Amino acid sequence: MSYLELSSAKEDLFNADIRHQIDRWVLKFPADQAQSAVIPALHILQDNHDGWLSKDLMDKLAIYLGMPSISVYEVATFYTMYELEPVGKNKISVCTNISCMLRGSEEIVEHLKQRLGVSFGQTTDDGLVTLKEVECLGACCGAPMLQLNRDYHEHLTLEKIDKLVDGLT
Ligand code: FES
Repeated sequence: MSYLELSSAKEDLFNADIRHQIDRWVLKFPADQAQSAVIPALHILQDNHDGWLSKDLMDKLAIYLGMPSISVYEVATFYTMYELEPVGKNKISVCTNISCMLRGSEEIVEHLKQRLGVSFGQTTDDGLVTLKEVECLGACCGAPMLQLNRDYHEHLTLEKIDKLVDGLT
């Protein structure tokens, strides 16, 4: 099945606007290396589909970029920034790697679990927040830290956590 056939069959999943956004990335690479755009393309798809990537979407992207589906899955499963299942409206990713651990991430994690009533990998009953554990996010000098959606929050304290959670909508 050609990409165009897939596209017209599932216009809502991979529409013209999304294709346009992906094309802007594809054009940054040599003509025969469209697959180099897979990382930003996955971001675009995820952002446009409630924050997660279905297998259907990844398969369509593979066709669009001319690469094997397995290669798209490999990228999507390697990076913690991609979600392969539905997530909450907000995503909190807490770093528990060495610098953050030495600076108190365990206490941060416990507090978050208690406040939200969920464990890592779970979403609150109201669908507001998904809590994740992640490896080093490259902000060790601000440890302990977490990422709330796209923003980093560093030098965390329990008070800062409470403020963040209270501000979630
Ligand atoms: S160890 Fe947490 S950001 Fe590097």
